[in-house]
Amino acid sequence: MKKYYFTLGLSFLMVGCGTPRIENNTLKDALRGKFYIGTALNIRQFTGMDVLPERVARENFSAIVPEDCMKSIYLQPKEGEFFFDEADRFVAWGEANSMWITGHCLVWHSQSPSWFYVDEKGDNVSPEVLKERLKTHITTVVTRYKGRIKGWDVVNEAIMEDGSWRKSKFYEILGEEFIPLAFQYAHEADPDAELYYNDYSMAFEGKRNTVVQLVKTLKERDIRIDAVGMQGHIGMDYPALEEFEKSLIAFAGTGAKVVITELDLTVLPSLNPNVGAAVEANFDYRKELNPYAGGLPDSIAQTWNRRMSDFFRLFLKHQDKITRVTLWGVCDSDSWRNNWPILGRTDYALLFDRQGIAKPVVGEIVELASK
Ligand code: GLA
Repeated sequence: MKKYYFTLGLSFLMVGCGTPRIENNTLKDALRGKFYIGTALNIRQFTGMDVLPERVARENFSAIVPEDCMKSIYLQPKEGEFFFDEADRFVAWGEANSMWITGHCLVWHSQSPSWFYVDEKGDNVSPEVLKERLKTHITTVVTRYKGRIKGWDVVNEAIMEDGSWRKSKFYEILGEEFIPLAFQYAHEADPDAELYYNDYSMAFEGKRNTVVQLVKTLKERDIRIDAVGMQGHIGMDYPALEEFEKSLIAFAGTGAKVVITELDLTVLPSLNPNVGAAVEANFDYRKELNPYAGGLPDSIAQTWNRRMSDFFRLFLKHQDKITRVTLWGVCDSDSWRNNWPILGRTDYALLFDRQGIAKPVVGEIVELASK
């Protein structure tokens, strides 16, 4: 009878056929050869200020992505003034711990500095100026980590659920051409880096179709794109697993790989009509919208566990198409879900609880992966 202990993902002693032997039971070991299992890290974690999740991350995950410190608002808050201190420490932490390091994200309408799109008078800049700014930002950032950051989320969230283009400033000024340009600049700066298009609500048919078209167009133009990032901010009843699978298969059908980039599963009621991950969504706190502040009832924990397990079953089924599954955070207390789209709630969205203890699904994933 096998017994798994996951408290901090340590190796454990397994006694089998009378012979004691060491077997490694961590997520990353069980999934080796299938796909990387990653986590997003915040600054407190990779600078050693938050020791518990740092240790859980080190022991259980094989890939990392920065939760915030590589967004353009932090890297280039003023034109030409780059700030790399935290990003450098993030990359150094990843190297010291032999992680596959992904950069996130080069081009995104959110958490970008407002100077990027306007002139001194506050008017939109010309397409030429925006191209130049995009090129400078992407080239400077990608070149700095050339050969060390193995893959980049080049463009984040450019398409709406219905498949139309998001009317961001990038789109307003450059049209859809900002996407191939961004991929081109990133490729020129590090020809060996993998490049991804990343988005949420990917199970929507409209978004699925436009993403497929986008990947095909890039490939037809010989522009490098390695994978489609499906963010995976999911809930207890959305998306339907079948719709998610349809998108996964459709994306892989283009010849690109799939990465599950920002997985978390909220148990909390949603007031967000599109159930996506639009960071600007924001609703007032009400006590009844925070039902599990004192703890999660067993029945809900089990339902959560089953659903997370179903998703991992799907990922393992499609392991030939998937190169990485990344959780958006280490322990439940770290998750942005506690504060979005309503500030100050208590959510249970990740694989490790507030004490850093693995939830039952982790053992199930290890079992499934070893079959
Ligand atoms: C989006 C972004 C991430 C992060 C999450 C919320 O999914 O891609 O960088 O901001 O929202 O934390």
